[in-house]
Amino acid sequence: MCPRVGNYGESSMTEKPTITVVADYDAMSLAAADRVADVVSRYPEGAITIPTGSTPVGMYTELARRINAGELDFSRVQIFCLDEYLGVTPEDPAALTKLLLRDFLVPANINLDNVHFIPSTAADPAKAAQEYDDAVKAAGGLKIAVIGLGPNGHVGFNEPGSGPETRTRIVNLTRESRDQNAHYYEGATIPEQAMSMGIGTILESEKIVMIVNGTAKAEIVKEMVEGPMTNDLPGSWLGLAGSRAELIVDTSAAAFLES
Ligand code: GLP
Repeated sequence: MCPRVGNYGESSMTEKPTITVVADYDAMSLAAADRVADVVSRYPEGAITIPTGSTPVGMYTELARRINAGELDFSRVQIFCLDEYLGVTPEDPAALTKLLLRDFLVPANINLDNVHFIPSTAADPAKAAQEYDDAVKAAGGLKIAVIGLGPNGHVGFNEPGSGPETRTRIVNLTRESRDQNAHYYEGATIPEQAMSMGIGTILESEKIVMIVNGTAKAEIVKEMVEGPMTNDLPGSWLGLAGSRAELIVDTSAAAFLES
């Protein structure tokens, strides 16, 4: 493992996000699980947010293993979901939360009373989104936010155009993201809108861990780390979190980074 400090664009923070380059997907997953376990052991009743997608599956497998082996206590952790398609329930065949249930919540026997699902079917989505942010605050704010990176630089479903002030809200999905997400489900049509926790809430987290792997994301990782912080690449706003943020990336996704 080789920890490095990247420049993260124009971040004015004296301490930049840490970039931890690891050998491969398994090492990334283990490192991410370690970060979550560390925070949860310090804050057994703390609030966290965790992502969906293919990237975190290995981390979830490891976390579930530790929980089931009695090495890690998740019984009081408050889990806030990151994003969900608008109007979609966790039971829907094509739901982001369904992936979270399949990959983590069910195998790790998480008490669903401790899971705050995105209010994506609320009659008044704006009001429900505000209440969701209020619930994060009431839980003491996030102790750790684990996030992935979309191929177009999105975080959660904060698509290009999203700024560091954004809060939970309805977002329009890009064609690119909808096509990317279609790979998660066979023959499903991905809705045009979603509800996502905002970048502002993620940036307030005590620790932020972004996990990225694979050559397909090497270019966007380089842009995010070495380019300016910009709404065009929402992941670049991690630079604002300074040393509270860590990018854990495998050598493939780190291939274009200047060392
Ligand atoms: C998805 C999700 C994100 C996820 C990202 C990367 O669309 N909305 O929360 O982090 O895109 O997905 P993957 O890990 O499958 O590459």
